[in-house]
Amino acid sequence: MFSKTLISNLKSAQSVAVLTGAGMSAESGVPTFRGENGLWKKFKPEELANFEAFIRNPELVWEWYRYRKHLIAQVQPNAGHYALAQMEKRHKNFAVITQNIDNLHRRAGSKTVHELHGNIDCNYCTGCKKYFSNEKILAREEGVPRCDKCGGLIRPDVVWFGELLPAEPWNSSVEASERSDVFFSIGTSSVVYPAASLPLVAKRAGAYLVEINLEATELSPAADEVILQKSGDMLPLLLKECYGSTEGNKIL
Ligand code: OAD
Ligand code: ZN
Repeated sequence: MFSKTLISNLKSAQSVAVLTGAGMSAESGVPTFRGENGLWKKFKPEELANFEAFIRNPELVWEWYRYRKHLIAQVQPNAGHYALAQMEKRHKNFAVITQNIDNLHRRAGSKTVHELHGNIDCNYCTGCKKYFSNEKILAREEGVPRCDKCGGLIRPDVVWFGELLPAEPWNSSVEASERSDVFFSIGTSSVVYPAASLPLVAKRAGAYLVEINLEATELSPAADEVILQKSGDMLPLLLKECYGSTEGNKIL
């Protein structure tokens, strides 16, 4: 299942970095974006996930995010999330870099998590930048939430198409990628940049590059090892094979 090279590289790795995408949370019941049942088959990113669309039709965008907030509030981390949280304890440096906004890595116990695309639990005012919790926002079932300080439109704290990634998670993610001895790309279609450039940054800096995905992606030719399986199945197995631990199987 795993090569001897991967096991020995991982055992001796000082630094490990893991880039995750929507496939990581698929087994928790969060729909992915692309592919047959992907969200972008049913919904249009240009109408839901960009700032101009939000200004044009904040009601529609808020309807979409209320739906996603409710959905994500009901799901639980899966065995893959738990396995990564256990792996973090075995290495000097271990960073999860995620494109997911669902908070599931932290809920599974991962400590160093760089959220490149924001977090669905957070919201802020587009006028004065005041922070608002989900609790306040979801207290009302419909309409556009407005700031109690300046009256401005409140938006979810997620990155939309055409927006720059926040500097802090980005810089830390580049550093973690450059420093990594082993880099995993897990459950991402590897088509959305700049996140998709991080595995290549890691590889150029000498990392052993491993991809875990249900199918081959644009990254696959560059990977040292491609594992075409579910991450929720593979990560607990890897944990067991490499460290002799089954702690990652918490929910099995
Ligand atoms: P995608 O939906 O593009 O890709 C999900 C990937 O996960 C696919 O390659 C699937 O084959 C794979 N996959 C599905 N189930 C899996 C499983 N159980 N185990 C392993 N792999 C599995 O999602 P992302 O690559 O995360 O951005 O998409 C990147 C960004 O595009 C998102 O963060 C979002 C989206 O538009 C914004 O909204 C800014
Ligand atoms: Zn405000």
